[in-house]
Amino acid sequence: MKRERIVAIVNRKGGSGKSTTTLNLAGALADLGLRVLAVDLDPQASLTRLLSDDPVERGIGACISAPGQSAAELIRNTGAGIDLLPGDRSIEAAALALNDSPAGFLRLRRVLARLEGYGVVLLDTPPALGFAVSSAVLAAGWAVLPTATTQQDIDALVDTLGAIDELAEDEMHGARRLAIVPNAVHRDRPDQGGLAALQGAYGELVAAPIPHAAAIKRALNRRLPLSRTEPGAAPMAAYRALARRVADAIAGPAPDGAGAAPEKEAAHVGAIV
Ligand SMILES: Nc1ncnc2c1ncn2[C@@H]1O[C@H](COP(=O)(O)OP(=O)(O)O)[C@@H](O)[C@H]1O
Ligand SMILES: [Mg+2]
Repeated sequence: MKRERIVAIVNRKGGSGKSTTTLNLAGALADLGLRVLAVDLDPQASLTRLLSDDPVERGIGACISAPGQSAAELIRNTGAGIDLLPGDRSIEAAALALNDSPAGFLRLRRVLARLEGYGVVLLDTPPALGFAVSSAVLAAGWAVLPTATTQQDIDALVDTLGAIDELAEDEMHGARRLAIVPNAVHRDRPDQGGLAALQGAYGELVAAPIPHAAAIKRALNRRLPLSRTEPGAAPMAAYRALARRVADAIAGPAPDGAGAAPEKEAAHVGAIV
């Protein structure tokens, strides 16, 4: 797989919507006719549990630790029209074994480079800046950052963007910023204030907000993407728009300015009520 087709879903904060976004974005991308592979880099394996009933014997960490292990053998077809490269705690073992080796962060890139036949690969990541996130950012061409909209969430987002930028500087080829996705946004004033602050600071980088929606919870409970359970539900418009943004990014040369630092610095994201 070329890096241009690989998208890392990243935010250091737990509960910011990474796994939910990965699942529903995967569904929307499959609807566009792309063959989708979802890779679970979180040792908690919530995406794996959302997409598959079968116990994981070997997860992606095994491929990272042992360069001989083929990732293609571990891939499962799921009922949702999405393939899954499952996760488990093997990613923690890989992190322990490789954390001190600078080339360790590049192992995932090599594992994914050998896979073929997918239109797009989504990497779901754990809620901590560490081995898995660094590996994902260096393997992917693009980064998508789901976030809730309280000040605390925005602080975590700014931190995460800083970490991505640092990796890009060190390695020259880190993932470029593709979208900040305001997630689980309520219609109340604090959430709307946070959304306006994000849009003010990051402009076009901010994708259409995903509303907080019972339909999303119902889809998660059924362990299917929303596109399968309730394709007419309100949040699908935002997921479809995000899927188009991803499809455009992987299809063509990067638009001017993509991935560039935002005009207003992160510190200027004002306090919100
Ligand atoms: N847009 C949404 N509407 C309603 N509930 C949501 C939405 N996004 C996420 N959730 C809920 O929040 C929980 C945490 O989201 P999740 O995607 O697991 O976050 P992360 O992967 O970043 O830790 C989910 O289990 C789900 O119940
Ligand atoms: Mg998750």
